[in-house]
Amino acid sequence: MFKVSQLAAAVAIVVTAAAAQAGEVEVLHYWTSGGEAKSVAELKKIMQAKGHVWKDFAVAGGGGDNAATVLKSRVVSGNPPAAAQIKGPAIQEWAAEGVLANLDATAKAEKWDSLLPKVVADVMKYKGNYVAAPVNVHRVNWMWANAAVLKKAGVAGMPKTWDEFFAAADKVKAAGLIPVAHGGQNWQDFTTFESVVLGVGGAKFYSDALIKLDAKALASDTMKKSLETFRKVKSYTDAAAAGRDWNLATAMVMQEKAAFQFMGDWAKGEFLAAGKAPGKDFLCAAAPGTANAYTFNVDSFAMFKLKDSGAQKAQGDLAASIMGTEFQEVFNLNKGSIPVRLNMSMAKFDDCAKTSSKDFVDTAKTGGLVPSVAHGMAIKPAAEGAIKDAVSQFWNDDKISVADGMKNIAKAAATK
Ligand code: BGC
Repeated sequence: MFKVSQLAAAVAIVVTAAAAQAGEVEVLHYWTSGGEAKSVAELKKIMQAKGHVWKDFAVAGGGGDNAATVLKSRVVSGNPPAAAQIKGPAIQEWAAEGVLANLDATAKAEKWDSLLPKVVADVMKYKGNYVAAPVNVHRVNWMWANAAVLKKAGVAGMPKTWDEFFAAADKVKAAGLIPVAHGGQNWQDFTTFESVVLGVGGAKFYSDALIKLDAKALASDTMKKSLETFRKVKSYTDAAAAGRDWNLATAMVMQEKAAFQFMGDWAKGEFLAAGKAPGKDFLCAAAPGTANAYTFNVDSFAMFKLKDSGAQKAQGDLAASIMGTEFQEVFNLNKGSIPVRLNMSMAKFDDCAKTSSKDFVDTAKTGGLVPSVAHGMAIKPAAEGAIKDAVSQFWNDDKISVADGMKNIAKAAATK
């Protein structure tokens, strides 16, 4: 039999152990639309079930530009969050500042090296050490459509080439509806732009022009054709597109006001959160001319160095949870993306996700798998920002000639 004092001591040990294990995780993210909020709520649930306190630090703004600005000021003032949604080359830039925590203990225990495609693992590491945990794989080169609108306009199926696309867009226009739902923000302009470049020039050209920023490719006839096609797409958008959030553009498609949207598969998360059925209410297809290519966008969380041991433990648990099978499935079912963890069952996923999963594997073999520039996966943030601005200027101002647009993009590409 325990004496009361022994029992009290035992209880105290248990309580202390629990307290040492629980911690607060402040998580900076920009998942604020309907589908996104549902997705991140799943991560919060998992962390709370492990006894941790989730401090939500959501900064609205699609594509994450606002979140990046807020993050900088928090880190500069010496008060970083535990984790922040950072991706691509920006992970390397933050790690080089010496502010990111080393996640190797978790990565080793959970065998991340064998569970991740190498292209993804490399982005998560700085000088060989894991500093970020990947969440998903989003495909960016998608085109979404409202099935009822296409039917009403007499469009027989999803257009496969840009010529077919413009013919379909003309029919939608003639039916009195908006052919392309667009949100005029520079990352959305570029999301459309990179799909056009990929469709017009193919993956090798995309890579030369937008990733290697090769001067010859940027001055080529293929680039000229890309800008002409891009400008033509704009003529099918509505006059109120400027500044519109991406999810409001998706809503226009849902509400049968518009036919198509060029957007990554987080748009599917929006359709699903609104109770719409893939293949029935809304359709997905690769953007015209891009069926054999795949622009990838991997969301990830980098962890910042923290002093508190409870917070450190919570960070480790967050990293492990993110790569766990439970989270990878439920999060990606909601988010519209596919699991980044290899060998996961796709049984519960819809046909858009199954296509994405198959194409991710196939294009990795053929060279069609390329990182998305619009979504911060390919080039350093400074050049990316400059090119996005040049592309948006061209999109917004029809007086800028194609030749000048090309020159402006080439100039922006030289930004260090
Ligand atoms: C992110 C997605 C997010 C989208 C809209 C993309 O850059 O990768 O997770 O849903 O922006 O904010």
